[in-house]
Amino acid sequence: MTRGLFLTFEGPDGSGKSTQVRMLAEHLTQQGYAVLVTREPGGTDIGEQIRSVILRPENTAMAPVTEVLLYAACRAQIVQELIRPALEAGQIVLCDRFLDSSVVYQGYGRGLLDAVNGINAFATDGLAPDLTILLKIGAQAGLARIREKTRDRIESESAAWHEQVYAGYLALEQANPERIRGIDANGSVSEVHDAVLRVVSPLLDASASGAGEAL
Ligand code: TMP
Repeated sequence: MTRGLFLTFEGPDGSGKSTQVRMLAEHLTQQGYAVLVTREPGGTDIGEQIRSVILRPENTAMAPVTEVLLYAACRAQIVQELIRPALEAGQIVLCDRFLDSSVVYQGYGRGLLDAVNGINAFATDGLAPDLTILLKIGAQAGLARIREKTRDRIESESAAWHEQVYAGYLALEQANPERIRGIDANGSVSEVHDAVLRVVSPLLDASASGAGEAL
């Protein structure tokens, strides 16, 4: 089976992931690679519907277990509908957040680590990223970039809660040094982009085939 490359971006809210995903996608497309850009929660039509339920600020009654299951449901759908087929077609998949987000937000943040791991093994059928870029910026600094009025249900959690989530990211980074590459996200957009390219390029060079073909 031909297999592409699965790259994910992680980081606190306000870390600039979406911008960096877009810039990397533009760069890779210009190089001739076939790139699929997607995001979690969401990405598919069904996933985007679930996303709006998860993030609606009015849904304050949502139980933590429900939250874990809804994120996992989104993930099962995106893996089956988009990510696996794209990888089988040899594409580079760039996903704005993936399982690590559930590990830190629901695992560390809500204290449901075992449940997150168990449920997501089922939801992803064992699919894991080849490389994860962690955009590192303190939780408070990230949140400060998001206007209070526009915050979703998760972004509206307390600063202390977001600090706990960020500590989860740092623990994950330490535990998975091969897969997770941390990048300082306090710099300018173009500085961060250059750092992203430095991390991603060796993977492209190491891949079996050239631009525009299956990796
Ligand atoms: P976004 O703002 O990066 O699109 O992500 C939406 C929010 O959902 C963000 O606050 C992080 C949160 N989230 C989780 O809590 N668990 C997850 O599994 C994912 C994918 C996101």
